[in-house]
Amino acid sequence: MSLESIRYTRGSLDILDQLLLPLQTRYVKVDGVEDGWKVINKMQVRGAPAIAIVGCLSLAVELEKDNNSDKKVMRQEIEGKLNYLVSARPTAVNIKLAADELINLANSLSADETVTPEDFKERFISRIEGMLIKDIEDNKAIGRYGCEAILKNSEGDGPVRILTHCNTGSLATAGYGTALGVIRSLQESKRLDHVYCTETRPYNQGARLTAYELVHEKIPSTLIVDSVVSALMNSRRITAVVVGADRVAANGDTANKIGTYQIAIAAKHHGVPFYIAAPLTSIDMSLTSGERIKIEERPEREMTHVGVHRIAAPGMLKLPSKLHGPFLDATRARSNLGINCWNPSFDVTPAALITGIITEKGVFAPDKLSEIESK
Ligand code: MRU
Repeated sequence: MSLESIRYTRGSLDILDQLLLPLQTRYVKVDGVEDGWKVINKMQVRGAPAIAIVGCLSLAVELEKDNNSDKKVMRQEIEGKLNYLVSARPTAVNIKLAADELINLANSLSADETVTPEDFKERFISRIEGMLIKDIEDNKAIGRYGCEAILKNSEGDGPVRILTHCNTGSLATAGYGTALGVIRSLQESKRLDHVYCTETRPYNQGARLTAYELVHEKIPSTLIVDSVVSALMNSRRITAVVVGADRVAANGDTANKIGTYQIAIAAKHHGVPFYIAAPLTSIDMSLTSGERIKIEERPEREMTHVGVHRIAAPGMLKLPSKLHGPFLDATRARSNLGINCWNPSFDVTPAALITGIITEKGVFAPDKLSEIESK
């Protein structure tokens, strides 16, 4: 059985608390939009598709309890709540695209005089529920297309070894996963020899979550620290890198977990194909290039601490008691600054480093994303 990150039945939502994995398996109740915003912002649930689905489901739970009978008020509240949910984490575009789709739906249901408030509620909640099923179907298609492309590209090239970064599996989606879905599909085809996953500092989604999923699925795998990537490519033949995406711009530039860019550079240097696996809901055709993607910066504590333990130097000098006068003040001023931290959560890999973008509609060259429309 695959890991269940989202437990939903009409009116009730629980999410697996990913902050506690792999040491504890505990579900958290999400009782409405306020809870939805919090679990996304705190990263108790994370991964671009899962963020979108949990955000929208939190609204479905809230609406189910709502007895409002004025469609205009419902429409207005829905728009405000969706915009609020989008603000929980800024880089992943999936939740923004889902919110736009739902706001359009609310507008048309509200304007349609044949739709009663009860129908409005039913059709709106059903549309959100449909996202859960669609995400799993899309991931399975991504898995098949990615598996085909990688096997075709590596024909006669020996055992298939994949490197992945961050977590893109059942935990990051409604189920099956994107890049991890491709890995699952390769495993199902019996062609997979080995998977390498990075620990993915600073938040360790690789060590905590991907390693957990790979072990759970009995996929032969090895965990490496992020700085081993180039040495790995230099010493063992890697068939392909497959990672996920938080936002793909129209020109193919792709924002994904911090560290993805340097893996793509290493892959280019070593001649290793580098794939992005992402649903169409991660593609933002409104942005011409990756320069325009807003990169979330996370609190420095996620970098200076592992759990409750500080691993970074405190940055405060212990002042010798014999210091006095202006020298003491200057030293104190300097020392009080402490160490600076910069903790961007994502980086942007330029399209030129990407071999292909694997979607549920097939694999596209990064400069051919406009062709998706016609598929
Ligand atoms: O900060 P996170 O853990 O939400 O970042 C997740 C990633 O960068 C994933 O690669 C991406 O969202 C795709 S998940 C299918």
